[in-house]
Amino acid sequence: MIEKIAGLLQEIEDLKAMREQEIEEFRVRFLGKKGEVTRLFEEFRNVLPEEKKEFGKKLNELKNAATAKIEELRAILEESTEAAECSFDLTKPGDACELGTRHPISITREEIISIFNKLGYTLAEGPEIEDDHHVFEALNFPADHPARDMQDTFFISSGANPILLRTHTSSVQVRTMERQKPPVRVICPGRVFRNEAISARAHCIFHQVEGLYIDKNVSFADLKQAILLFVKEMFGENTQIRMRPSYFPFTEPSTEVDISCNICGGKGCNICKGTGWLEIMGAGMVDPNVLSASGIDPKEYSGFAFGMGIERIAMLKWQVRDLRHYFENDVRFLREFETSM
Ligand code: PHE
Repeated sequence: MIEKIAGLLQEIEDLKAMREQEIEEFRVRFLGKKGEVTRLFEEFRNVLPEEKKEFGKKLNELKNAATAKIEELRAILEESTEAAECSFDLTKPGDACELGTRHPISITREEIISIFNKLGYTLAEGPEIEDDHHVFEALNFPADHPARDMQDTFFISSGANPILLRTHTSSVQVRTMERQKPPVRVICPGRVFRNEAISARAHCIFHQVEGLYIDKNVSFADLKQAILLFVKEMFGENTQIRMRPSYFPFTEPSTEVDISCNICGGKGCNICKGTGWLEIMGAGMVDPNVLSASGIDPKEYSGFAFGMGIERIAMLKWQVRDLRHYFENDVRFLREFETSM
């Protein structure tokens, strides 16, 4: 009898994980009404009194072992079904993580900044939502200047000093002059807003980099030299500049700067419309009124300022024909600048 129990115990121990049905069959065979354990308990009556103690102990051991085994097998079964439900296919190829590219406007902005950094200009930034004072008033715009017209400017509020979206980053130059005593040598990159219809050549949002240099004895020759150095770095050593007289309220004299066409080398092509020249920026000597409006004495100091559109520079550098490409973010367009980084 004792041997039989030992045999059954061994059998229980050797059992491996099974399916639901097999576990149930095992339970019935051992613990069921007609199962091994039940039967052995019935035989307990016939056991000799002196063997009863050991037999009883073994029998309990067998019962506990069978119950524990069933519990163990059920736990294993449950775990493996859970694992099967959220199984991963470890042989599946991974999802490729595609790298993006830098936007041509960012690439161009960084290049412009780095050229002027080398010339000693530091970076200045200011708010996109500005007031009339910093965008127009302090820059010597007469009260009835057409640039103040609703057509050009997005106004946010009206009143004595209306709040508006800046139409140029010259407002940052004003803020710098208010804060800092000369010498001042800054470039101001940033987003600007104009109330214009969107077309291949115009957009209501675009980017500018403006520069300002104020010190004692700054002359027009210094302006020419700074711009010439910049265009040679940006468009190539052989690039020439041409200055045409122009008008801006905040500079006097004012000029518009052209570069020799980098496509035809100045001979004339359809990009430069046969002229051999491409317009790249506005510039001039800071108007004495602008210096005094920001608390700088025009008798002691003079300076120059220039401003260019980043979209325009990037268009000329890479022959982009339509300004809207910059804003649509079509990856086929953006990928073309991958190697320019
Ligand atoms: N602020 C001018 C513009 O937005 C550009 C400019 C800057 C012209 C500085 C002259 C001097 O068009």
